[in-house]
Amino acid sequence: MEEESDVLLRVNHLKQYFRSGDYINKAVDDVSFYIKKGEVFGLVGESGCGKTTTGRTIINLYDPTEGDVYFQGLRISSTQNGLPVLIRSLKNDFEEKQRQMKAALKEKTEKNPAQAAALKAEYDQKIKEMRKELKEKIRQARTNALESSVEKSKCVEKYREKRKAELTAAFEADSKTLSGQALEERKARYEQDMKVAAKDNIMTKMQMIFQDPIASINPRMTVREIIAEGLKIRGIKDEKYIDEKVYEVLDLVGLVREHADRYPHEFSGGQRQRIGIARAIVLEPDLIIADEPISALDVSIQAQVINLLNDLRNKMGLTIMFIAHNLSVVKYFSDRIGVMYYGKLVELADSDELFEHPLHPYTKSLLSAIPYPDPHHEKHRQRIEYKPLKEHDYSVNKPSLREIKPGHFINCNDEEFERYKKELGL
Ligand SMILES: Nc1ncnc2c1ncn2[C@@H]1O[C@H](COP(=O)(O)OP(=O)(O)OP(=O)(O)O)[C@@H](O)[C@H]1O
Ligand SMILES: [Mg+2]
Repeated sequence: MEEESDVLLRVNHLKQYFRSGDYINKAVDDVSFYIKKGEVFGLVGESGCGKTTTGRTIINLYDPTEGDVYFQGLRISSTQNGLPVLIRSLKNDFEEKQRQMKAALKEKTEKNPAQAAALKAEYDQKIKEMRKELKEKIRQARTNALESSVEKSKCVEKYREKRKAELTAAFEADSKTLSGQALEERKARYEQDMKVAAKDNIMTKMQMIFQDPIASINPRMTVREIIAEGLKIRGIKDEKYIDEKVYEVLDLVGLVREHADRYPHEFSGGQRQRIGIARAIVLEPDLIIADEPISALDVSIQAQVINLLNDLRNKMGLTIMFIAHNLSVVKYFSDRIGVMYYGKLVELADSDELFEHPLHPYTKSLLSAIPYPDPHHEKHRQRIEYKPLKEHDYSVNKPSLREIKPGHFINCNDEEFERYKKELGL
């Protein structure tokens, strides 16, 4: 089991449902995972499976429908705004079950008319129990929503206290070994850092970068303005400090200070992505959620952006959640990989483990889609298609995410779990 202090982000039973009319789209449906400090966590799956929605929910663009997000040990999510959708969804589930039971009752009664009264009484009793359960679930959801919103409202203040305590501890440790001018300088830096910490917002410590991160930005803004925007939002006004910061991050992403006064349309796709990364890292985040940051780029440029992210990870101690369609992109870059299918995590494991011992048929199908560099091999490559209804019978025994060996999780039911264990020789 991972140490809690090593965990930067923890996502617990996260659900993000979208409602249109009475229909509920379960875009993210009970997803749990954690990301350790300093690692790259890959999230893969086909279009529409809920990767972006997961990322957006984590960074608080939406309140989750249910579940929690913990960042640096603090709960940063509230289900308050998700409550109406959750209640609608619970009612839908109830009504669906009721319809099925009604149909079953009708069938049984036709076969066995003498028992009609007894069957009806049994049905009524069950419905009564289900109604009670529904009421209890709604009550619980309301309590959770309230609790989470209270906890979320405190997270900024708690984070500042934590940061200040960390800075003070570091300063006290350093000051034991310093004296004279060096101590004075250290003290000045400490005081400056404490001022920043007093205004810091935990939510800026997570940044998301997109496929074309500056496409949505006002084209009349210069690169300098684009990068400095976040600093200004943080309340930093010192123009000299801002300029220095802008030049520093331009350098970090492999651009030069002369680029600062140009406009985004003057740059190539790869350079625009670098500007997007600069804009994210200027806020000194701990976590970057990179949502398919390279899928729109030429293959030759893709590797450069991956290398840049890898460099920044080492230099800045960044943790990265990397979202991609296919496994080939995340293979070398990720420490661990989660595979998503229709709102669910179906498999999660260390990168090497996932490639050596894939278990879920959907993971196997994704692996079979990776092209080989060897043309002979490529000619004989067999694509495996995933057909969920053919693969699984979940009518009686329902699946859940289970740990099959340390760190390797798989979504399956009891029968499949035994089968997968045999496959692994366990
Ligand atoms: N704001 C929204 N309102 C309503 N439905 C949404 C919203 N955002 C996403 N969805 C729906 O949620 C589901 C998951 O979408 P999402 O964008 O998260 O998938 P994705 O895995 O990122 O796909 P892609 O690889 O194409 O980017 C889809 O059915 C989508 O239509
Ligand atoms: Mg997406």
